[in-house]
Amino acid sequence: MKIAVVGTGYVGLVTGTCFAETGNTVTCVDIDKEKVKKLQNGTITIYEPGLEQLFERNIKQERLSFTTDLAEGIKDAKIIFLALPTPPGEDGSADLKYILKVADDLGPLLSDYTVIVDKSTVPVGTADKVHAKIAAHAKVDFDVVSNPEFLREGVAVEDFMKPDRVVIGTTSPRARKIMETLYAPYVRQGNPIIFMDERSAELTKYAANAFLATKITFMNEIANVCELVGADVDAVRKGVGTDSRIGKRFLFPGIGYGGSCFPKDVQALAKSAQDAQYDFRILRSVMDVNEDQKTRLIARVKEHFKGHLKGKSIAFWGLSFKPHTDDIREAPALYNIEALLQEGVTVRAHDPEAIENVRRIMGDKIQYFETPYDAAEGADAIFISTEWPEFRTPDFEKLNTILKGKVIFDGRNLYDLDLMKDQGYAYFSIGREVINGK
Ligand SMILES: NC(=O)c1ccc[n+]([C@@H]2O[C@H](COP(=O)([O-])OP(=O)(O)OC[C@H]3O[C@@H](n4cnc5c(N)ncnc54)[C@H](O)[C@@H]3O)[C@@H](O)[C@H]2O)c1
Repeated sequence: MKIAVVGTGYVGLVTGTCFAETGNTVTCVDIDKEKVKKLQNGTITIYEPGLEQLFERNIKQERLSFTTDLAEGIKDAKIIFLALPTPPGEDGSADLKYILKVADDLGPLLSDYTVIVDKSTVPVGTADKVHAKIAAHAKVDFDVVSNPEFLREGVAVEDFMKPDRVVIGTTSPRARKIMETLYAPYVRQGNPIIFMDERSAELTKYAANAFLATKITFMNEIANVCELVGADVDAVRKGVGTDSRIGKRFLFPGIGYGGSCFPKDVQALAKSAQDAQYDFRILRSVMDVNEDQKTRLIARVKEHFKGHLKGKSIAFWGLSFKPHTDDIREAPALYNIEALLQEGVTVRAHDPEAIENVRRIMGDKIQYFETPYDAAEGADAIFISTEWPEFRTPDFEKLNTILKGKVIFDGRNLYDLDLMKDQGYAYFSIGREVINGK
């Protein structure tokens, strides 16, 4: 099948590449000329495990190409995916300007029946709006389908190739058949394609993300209570997670959720509900708690250094919003770094993949290091913001010799409390006993 993907970011590039991988011919379109030039030259523009190999193979076999020209990109395409940004507008609602602009442009360009698919996360009613925009200029039949994307950055290729489920919102039998054929290779193991109407599909994506953000936030509040009453959140987590009604995943406390999806999607769902005259009270609390949780460890830092942070140097481990990605959108790291900078701390940052993205926005306000040990050299403490696997078992013998202060503020609960006691660290984590060090 000939497919076009409009918007070649984290979702668009994975979507385009993975559709090419099962034999479709895919053209990815983007307005970012620099990005498209790189992609045309065979340089991948995001870090996503396993993607580069598929990207290279499908370009070589001429199933995957890139353009900035929408008309050229969608020529002969039976399906056009919209994988465009939907950032929060000023009032918290999803800003649809990118989607509606492309919908406007598409109308006159369609030359045969086409399925236009919203893959972006969009509020209920967007498929109708896209339909109206295209219909204003189109001279051929078309359908607009909602097919929200559930991939997780860091495991996006795996998620795309073997999704838990595919949600497709359409009331058109013709579009349904085409979508079913397209997704057949991805659901061979019995994982379902769930068909529903467009509005329900649009809401399903927000409901899933808001639920997960709520689950994380609930556990963060349990952790905060643990600290006050002398309980251990690790034990509590295991105790509740083994209840099959609750499940083990998304129960790890930390310094809040971030990323390009949860914060904006929770906000947008709350706003959509408000527009529909419904006060979604849980979501208001989730947003409030998460806002505080992001910089909760900073209070510990201040307390430990008795308010004298000026001139201190802190090694900052992890910048991306989660491991295995270079994405720093809404990363808790950035909020903590800003808070430390305001106190006059020198920040010595390391991240395996996200340094260049942070350098673009923070410049030389902080220092960047290739390894966690370089960052730790002479530092008064380590602050851990992202649970990259390489931070889990560092060489403590080495660290003990290069750190100036044996102090760790751990926003991801990476280390065993007994290990920290044995190593003689002052150790502050989330929802667990404070280790005072030697
Ligand atoms: N990133 C994720 O993990 C994820 C997961 C599921 C769903 N989503 C949703 O998917 C959508 C896209 O997210 P993303 O993370 O890929 O965003 P992104 O910012 O990484 O990519 C969007 C791309 O669209 C391009 N673009 C903007 N206007 C354009 C136009 N007129 N024509 C062509 N290209 C244009 C941008 O240049 C950019 O490359 C959002 O709605 C997001 O909520 C994201």
